[in-house]
Amino acid sequence: MSWVMATASCKKGTVQLVVTKVITILLLLQLATVVKSQRNDDYEDTRHLYHDGSSLEEEKDVCTSATGCPESAHDMNLFRLEGHKEGHVQVVELQDNKNHIIKTVSMKPLIFEVEDFFTEEECNHVIQLAEKQGLQSSSTHNQEQSNPSMRLLDLDGDQRLSLTEMRRTIEDGFDIYLVERDLRKLYTDLAMDGNEDEFISREEMQNVSPYEFKGYLDDLIAKEPEKKSRFSSQAWIYPDKISDPLIDSFQQRIRRLTQLPDMMIDSHSFIQVVRYAADGHYNAHHDSGDDFQYPCCHMVEHKRCNICRYATIMVYLNDVEEGGETAFPVANNETYDEEVFRDSGKRNLNHYCQAANLKLLPRKGTAVLWYNHFVNETTGWMGAVDKLTWHGGCPVVRGNKWIMNRWIAATPERDQDIKINKVEV
Ligand code: OGA
Ligand code: FE2
Repeated sequence: MSWVMATASCKKGTVQLVVTKVITILLLLQLATVVKSQRNDDYEDTRHLYHDGSSLEEEKDVCTSATGCPESAHDMNLFRLEGHKEGHVQVVELQDNKNHIIKTVSMKPLIFEVEDFFTEEECNHVIQLAEKQGLQSSSTHNQEQSNPSMRLLDLDGDQRLSLTEMRRTIEDGFDIYLVERDLRKLYTDLAMDGNEDEFISREEMQNVSPYEFKGYLDDLIAKEPEKKSRFSSQAWIYPDKISDPLIDSFQQRIRRLTQLPDMMIDSHSFIQVVRYAADGHYNAHHDSGDDFQYPCCHMVEHKRCNICRYATIMVYLNDVEEGGETAFPVANNETYDEEVFRDSGKRNLNHYCQAANLKLLPRKGTAVLWYNHFVNETTGWMGAVDKLTWHGGCPVVRGNKWIMNRWIAATPERDQDIKINKVEV
């Protein structure tokens, strides 16, 4: 192990009104038939379930392409629910004879909230399933990796690490989030900063071995686990392995909510249940990546891979006594610069949650849907990650917080997703 420097009528006679209504209904029926014939067979036709006054408009929007509408799955585009504008409300029948309200909470990134997605009993049931399964301490993959060489993030190339550069080195290399006070203590404890200038030069770095450095951080985390990026426990539920009416109904609600092809909902459909106790949190992260030079993780095993999750559906399973909001630190940012954001330290929601641009209150039974990726305009399929989807869980101040996560896996290639479907369904 070594150190590596890296740089949305008028009143007339009764007869006239009836005639108008009949004509309208006939026109609507005709339009519905046309639209239905244009829709793709891979989609469950759930559009009739939408009642927001603009549904007719939406039906017309099903296909407006000048080049023609999809004939087969090979021509369809990846669907993204229309947000209209912040605060917009659509009503949808997610379960037979049960309407749900879908509210647009943000356009950038596109985030929706669905109240009463689950009833109280349903939430309790999922918690019981997870408890039966047994919860284990959450950890993000970085931690388990050994670090054959430590990359020192000398971002400005001045051959020494500033406090910010040291913080980012430790965030990226060890998945541990320190504030300046912690760093100063680290310098003192490891006698690193001989001249106390708060910069660690190449030479000063050589005075401490990577093993000693890593050992110090391991001890710190053992004592203060809340300094990890994620401090929670979790259980996994596999819908195809258990026979549970609620989980089946959940799948159907997701199909109707997202209007994505069944294949995308039915495959890779595992559910993660997370429990945060006091101080539990999850620092800002993306649920998906767009390093598409690597295969998607749900397609390969034990290989370097890219996590490919088109959308996230997260359900709050309880009301939190205090804290535990879901924060989107850069939501609605006019400008966004990755380096500036990382430098700001605001990924550390354990400390800087209040600075986040958007915070959603955990309310029992409410679901949140957001799209981790844009739709690529050329391919019509999964495109780049929407960088404004940085998000995480604020620290729980009092009580516990329970959530469940369901990610919709996709690949950047339509044909590949269709192929997976043919194989697995
Ligand atoms: C997650 C996540 C947010 C929250 O589990 O991936 O982003 O509010 N959770 O707990
Ligand atoms: Fe997340």
